[in-house]
Amino acid sequence: MPEIRIDPDLCKRDGFCVMACPVEIFQQKEKGALPELDRVGMCIDCGHCVAVCPSGALSHDRYPEGTVHPVSTEDLPSYEQVLALVRARRSKRRFKDKPVERADIERVLEAARFAPSGHNAQPVHFVVVQDKNALHKIGTLTADGLQKMMKPFKSPVSRAVMRLMMGREKVDQLAKLAPEMDGLAELFRSGKDLILNDAPALIVFHADSGGATPSIDANLALQNASLAAEAAGLGCFYGGFVLFACSRGRAIQDFLSLPKEHHVYGVLALGYPKLKYGNWPERKPLRVKWM
Ligand SMILES: Cc1cc2nc3c(=O)[nH]c(=O)nc-3n(C[C@H](O)[C@H](O)[C@H](O)COP(=O)(O)O)c2cc1C
Repeated sequence: MPEIRIDPDLCKRDGFCVMACPVEIFQQKEKGALPELDRVGMCIDCGHCVAVCPSGALSHDRYPEGTVHPVSTEDLPSYEQVLALVRARRSKRRFKDKPVERADIERVLEAARFAPSGHNAQPVHFVVVQDKNALHKIGTLTADGLQKMMKPFKSPVSRAVMRLMMGREKVDQLAKLAPEMDGLAELFRSGKDLILNDAPALIVFHADSGGATPSIDANLALQNASLAAEAAGLGCFYGGFVLFACSRGRAIQDFLSLPKEHHVYGVLALGYPKLKYGNWPERKPLRVKWM
């Protein structure tokens, strides 16, 4: 249980901590009263109380001195700037033959670390792969994995058996993918890498599979990372084929020496982009129902 204290001399009785706490562990008996604590065991260490208190009256032992920083509002981008970044971000697949500076990857990881997570579990861990042999090995394991995964969907007999186990729709969907996966694997073996597109760096997002929302958490972190990469002058794309291979076997996880209980939930390939995109094409029109 965390230790939370409110300094009565500093507290302005504004009730901000009461309003901000998502699990309502602060209560004010009446307006203007010193907040009291209840059910502290419910605290999820989100830090909203220490972030919202304007007078520094609140201390939380999970946030010791030096771990709560002022928001510099003048550094915040405008809505127009955020939208411009979101529109400018592209999946970049052509990279300069140049290693990514560690400092640039650290900037990307810093953004990933601040993504929201279910119950504030912050379960996501990262592996950064930059070694050329290791990247090639991941490509090879992906190619092997994709072909192995697709094998049962290629024969009519095993397709029929799979339909009984997985349902017709899912099996037919995967059977349609089989030639593409095979082609991709063969191309990789012949030296044409459409799996990692010869990216000089890969970030693998992994987490304990026993958590509440590890897949969502990892992918929110990944999206933060991809926007940060775009802003930092890097290019990146979602390593979907690697992720797909990880979903059906542990060869890549074992190669990366991940803990047994960890799954890979996201993969981002990155590098310095060769191409500049001067235009942003429209998306599908907004489909929204207002209620
Ligand atoms: C879950 C997911 C998996 C993806 N897998 C791959 C992939 O394996 N290889 C690739 O080049 N792009 C991959 N992409 C990128 C998409 O092709 C891309 O986001 C889409 O075409 C839209 O283009 P944009 O990202 O430039 O806006 C993936 C994207 C997502 C969200």
